[in-house]
Amino acid sequence: MAFFRGRRAEVPKVDLEHLPRHVAIIMDGNGRWAKRRGLPRRAGHAAGAETFRTIATFAKELGLEYLTVYAFSTENWKRPKDEVDAIMRLLEKYLHEAIETMARDKVKMAFFGDLSPLAANLRALCRETEEISKGYDGCQVNICLNYGGRDELVRAAKAFALDCVEGRADPCHLTEDAFGGYLYSAGVPDPDLVIRPSGEIRTSNFLVWQSAYAEFYFTDVLWPDFSKEDLLRALAAYQNRSRRYGGV
Ligand code: FPP
Repeated sequence: MAFFRGRRAEVPKVDLEHLPRHVAIIMDGNGRWAKRRGLPRRAGHAAGAETFRTIATFAKELGLEYLTVYAFSTENWKRPKDEVDAIMRLLEKYLHEAIETMARDKVKMAFFGDLSPLAANLRALCRETEEISKGYDGCQVNICLNYGGRDELVRAAKAFALDCVEGRADPCHLTEDAFGGYLYSAGVPDPDLVIRPSGEIRTSNFLVWQSAYAEFYFTDVLWPDFSKEDLLRALAAYQNRSRRYGGV
């Protein structure tokens, strides 16, 4: 790998010609990272936001087409207000910076989740970044914000039911593909690889429908410590898997 001359031996080989199209990440472990350093949890989220910047830039350099990250779940509102506020401020800061650098980076941004409970200025920033970048076609970064996989499915079911009641859809003709069109991820291919750092072995309501055939990669590294090399390790592990989709 040309990317890591100094630590070449430690990083497994990744075939850049056969990367997964779509990688999704549960950015977990910020709180524990901060606790271990005697810092407030918000410091862990700030470090996590830096890691996100590094990994998103690297994903684009590698040539990944889609990167989806779990930034704030429908359940995360249960956290103390100062922690929620700190995460929202980090998102706001990131989106301001993204707007500044978009014309150069050409990264397309999208948001999965119900943005309606967010502060008006944050909502406006989300819409602005989506609007500015909608024509870009290099790498697409999807930020899951006030996102829950079950909530997404219920919303999709309601939207489909409404289309049926109002004559735009017929339940007898519903297919998996057509149902996928009602999800936040409409038009985005399913994730090939889902990465969860921090040692937790669960999926926590993330991309419930979309990850049905994803490969999962779990690592003990806490998200703020997750490096480019860790992403390469995950990609190498993915390339060693045999995806059969129920076949042989
Ligand atoms: C989970 O770690 C992390 C979150 C709920 C927030 C993630 C947010 C960021 C990385 C910052 C903003 C994002 C962007 C895209 C700029 P945790 O707090 O549950 O960690 P713990 O399990 O160790 O307590």
